[in-house]
Amino acid sequence: MLNFKYFNPTKIVFGPNTVPELSSLIPAAARVLVLYGGSSAEKNGTLGEVRRALAPRVVQEFGGIEPNPTYETLIRAVAQVRAEKLDFLLAVGGGSVIDGTKFVAAAVNFTGDPWDILRHFGSNITLALPFGTVLTLPATGSEMNSGAVITQQASHTKLPFNSPLVFPQFSILDPTKTYTLPPRQLANGVVDAFTHIVEQYLTYPAQALAQDRFAEGLLLTLVEIGHRVLDQGEDYDTRANLVWVASLALNGLIGAGVPQDWSTHMIGHELTALYGIDHARTLAIVLPANLEERRPAKHAKLLQYAERVWQLTQGSEEERIDQAIARTRHFFESLGIKTRLGDYGLADDAVDSVVAQLEAHGMTKLGEGRDVTPEVSRRILNRCR
Ligand code: NZQ
Ligand code: ZN
Repeated sequence: MLNFKYFNPTKIVFGPNTVPELSSLIPAAARVLVLYGGSSAEKNGTLGEVRRALAPRVVQEFGGIEPNPTYETLIRAVAQVRAEKLDFLLAVGGGSVIDGTKFVAAAVNFTGDPWDILRHFGSNITLALPFGTVLTLPATGSEMNSGAVITQQASHTKLPFNSPLVFPQFSILDPTKTYTLPPRQLANGVVDAFTHIVEQYLTYPAQALAQDRFAEGLLLTLVEIGHRVLDQGEDYDTRANLVWVASLALNGLIGAGVPQDWSTHMIGHELTALYGIDHARTLAIVLPANLEERRPAKHAKLLQYAERVWQLTQGSEEERIDQAIARTRHFFESLGIKTRLGDYGLADDAVDSVVAQLEAHGMTKLGEGRDVTPEVSRRILNRCR
């Protein structure tokens, strides 16, 4: 029986030349901290536009948020906000900068050790600074959701947190901002969004007819535009579709009231924390193997996926499922993303290391049925070799 409280308070401003709208989206009296990553936002002119739109407010900047943002870096931004009495945050970047900004927003007024926010997966957040985002990389959906993933570099620990207090107030989605992305990040974006949809859709039937059809529509759109995103350069319509699909993939729409399976993500996070593999690439490794390992429990949805997403109607049920999983793997590979541990230089001992990390982080009952124990994760990882 469907039963949920669905809301998404993030205001979306979508289209070319929308960065100047910041001047009316952020209160005139706000004392703003602009957070960004490495050099991309400066080089492509986005930061310049942001600075012009925010004038004459008090504005400070914090750069250097790395991919897979670290606690060690972010805690310096927290100190800056506190010392300078800043009261509004603006993330300019991809998922890492936005996630990092969510952490800063929650940590500024947190009493005690801010890492406790991750230890409690965000359930102990009681107050957060308001913030908005200017998205430059379509992939994570962080621009329209209340989740974030933070890494403690010292201990190789990458953990998610979630709180309704860290929804962005607004997000500016200007698809032209994606024109400077290298093919690697574009392919990552397609695969990350694809996997977000699969992890909310490919569980077991839940009588969520509209959520299923939305999910299938988003998957079909990614299959349709995946290669165009890589091949057609500065094509506005293609990029606009990618940006909007990636946001809808993880903004609560398709996940409302349905069983969810985040096991591919949780196993993938350990691969990133241990070996520094890009987030989306870890998903491309784990997802096909995970579907393969757990096909009995996912049988009905795998058949639906085979028929509605890959138009597979011939052959036995098991043959259609085989083909659907093979098509999924092939789609990732065709975007230039390898799907085997060995492709990333990892040997067999990586399986033990990843399982040990999952146990250390309490990731011992994953999946829609909470039955992905460390033993099941091990079997999944063995299929990734
Ligand atoms: O640092 P700069 O120089 O800005 O370069 C970045 C970075 O190196 C570059 N980039 C971003 N926009 C660009 C650009 N380069 C050229 N032109 C542009 N317009 O891209 C590189 C990767 O950026 P990053 O933000 O790390 O990528 P992504 O958006 O894929 O974010 C990945 C992070 O998000 C987390 C992941 O775990 C990972 O830490 N996730 C967050 C989620 C959420 N909040 O809901 C869900 C996801 O499942 C994911 O776990
Ligand atoms: Zn993801």
